[in-house]
Amino acid sequence: MTKPRLTIIAAMTRDGGLGRKGDLLYHISDDLKHFKAITMGKPIIMGRRTFESFPNGALPGRLNIVVTSNPGYSAPGILTAGSPEQAITLAAGHPEAFVVGGGEIYRRMMPMADAIELTLIDADSPADTDTYMPEITPGQWTVESESAPATDPRSGASYRFIRLRRADAANRADD
Ligand SMILES: NC(=O)c1ccc[n+]([C@@H]2O[C@H](COP(=O)([O-])OP(=O)(O)OC[C@H]3O[C@@H](n4cnc5c(N)ncnc54)[C@H](OP(=O)(O)O)[C@@H]3O)[C@@H](O)[C@H]2O)c1
Repeated sequence: MTKPRLTIIAAMTRDGGLGRKGDLLYHISDDLKHFKAITMGKPIIMGRRTFESFPNGALPGRLNIVVTSNPGYSAPGILTAGSPEQAITLAAGHPEAFVVGGGEIYRRMMPMADAIELTLIDADSPADTDTYMPEITPGQWTVESESAPATDPRSGASYRFIRLRRADAANRADD
């Protein structure tokens, strides 16, 4: 079966911060809606720690694939994969799959990704940030679209949505 197109989806601060103490740095309501709209109906691939950060377990309406080195790991509504490569195999037959984090899984899977849906939060990371995005190497990615900045009414944080695609798809690491 054909491999899905692989898209990373992440929300990061301007210095690449993603999370702290098993939680997101910012809970921006519009960003969570954006995430839901983009991923609905599609397979989502995540690390075990990100899965355990979801308050209500598996995200509904999506094939939840959790990467873990623990072969005995299980939870309602998920498939488990022993490696990122196996996670992609489990998503085979779907036209597109999303890599939804966290830092460790982004680091492992960015070389295999075709596109990045980035929410760029115009703020520095708090001092206790413990999870960061791997470098999005300039030259490897092209900006396909960028939204106008918006402000989250709750946190006051300014953010924008940026869609990147691999500059040279032929250089994808698993080709
Ligand atoms: N800002 C965002 O967009 C965003 C998105 C998602 C998550 N986050 C945040 O990121 C943080 C979690 O990220 P994280 O880096 O700590 O963890 P993670 O990437 O979510 O999960 C790491 C776990 O994945 C499994 N894993 C990773 N590589 C593997 C491999 N090659 N083979 C088998 N299993 C593998 C391991 O599970 P086992 O230990 O079970 O083997 C590992 O402990 C949280 O704070 C979360 O809120 C932020």
